[in-house]
Amino acid sequence: MKAVVLAGGSGSRLAPVTGPINKHFLPIYNKPMIYYPLSMVMLCGIREVMLVVNPGDLDKFRALLGNGEELGMRIEYVIQPFPRGLAEGLILSEQFLKGESVCYVLGDNIFFGHDLTYILKEAMADIEENGGAYVFGYNVKDPWRFGVVEFDSEGRVISIEEKPRSPKSNFAVVGLYFYDSMAVEYAKEACPSDRGEIEITSVNNRYLEEGRLKVKLLGRGFAWFDAGTHNSLLEAGEFVATIENKTGLMIGCIEEIAFNNGWIDIEQLKRLAGRLSGTFYGDYLWERIRRIDAGN
Ligand code: DAU
Repeated sequence: MKAVVLAGGSGSRLAPVTGPINKHFLPIYNKPMIYYPLSMVMLCGIREVMLVVNPGDLDKFRALLGNGEELGMRIEYVIQPFPRGLAEGLILSEQFLKGESVCYVLGDNIFFGHDLTYILKEAMADIEENGGAYVFGYNVKDPWRFGVVEFDSEGRVISIEEKPRSPKSNFAVVGLYFYDSMAVEYAKEACPSDRGEIEITSVNNRYLEEGRLKVKLLGRGFAWFDAGTHNSLLEAGEFVATIENKTGLMIGCIEEIAFNNGWIDIEQLKRLAGRLSGTFYGDYLWERIRRIDAGN
């Protein structure tokens, strides 16, 4: 399976901050927002990633992440000329995907939770084996901001509505989806919504119509943030700070994950840490290296 991470869009809800800077570079506590969705993909064991970016941001993303080689990955970039909607990233990634299944992640989504990697890997294996689509629901108090799952009295999914005025449940669809190879076709066939965007919800509903959509609800033990508003950006940063300062372990540290996955060796981890020496982030990596060298 390959991954596509969406890092384009206008970021209009974060204006004026997002005038001169793409929101995916904004810090969630101590690292750029894009590290968090990228780290989820890495935790799933996916090494080939396409990043969908705005025309003016390509060089900045390259400066931050390069071609992924330093992390033992392959990161490619495709430009989305205009933010025409989430599902367009699938169409733009057609050549990259070459008919493979895909882990599709929104660049402003942040996840945390015990066994999350296990749950995601299970969903991933299911899609690779049986096809279809897998999405995840999360209870929120402001469902109208999201894609919302509607259930019948027996708990079966009836529909997913994008930003409904009168949400039929409190379950938002989070921005991490697993799709088989049909997703690209479904995205091509989707009609633009009232707001003129090709919605990912249309792709999800297409899978639902075909009887090939699975929805798994993430319970109370998980944290999920869509950091696309000032409040959620702040909340996500505070959450990460709280957990990291309590445990001494970073969330979304891509160098550490690359090492833990066996994609880079200790010498490469030292090289990457060396570049960040004297910073909070670099000190964390050096502390990890010290503990690895000490065998614990
Ligand atoms: O966060 C979960 C929600 O994300 C889902 O529940 C909704 O169903 C889904 O439509 C989406 O809603 P948002 O309104 O939050 O999407 P947003 O416009 O913030 O875009 C999500 C990410 O995709 C963000 O990182 C920017 C990027 N993006 C967005 C658009 C519209 C692109 O790369 N290209 C685009 O054309």
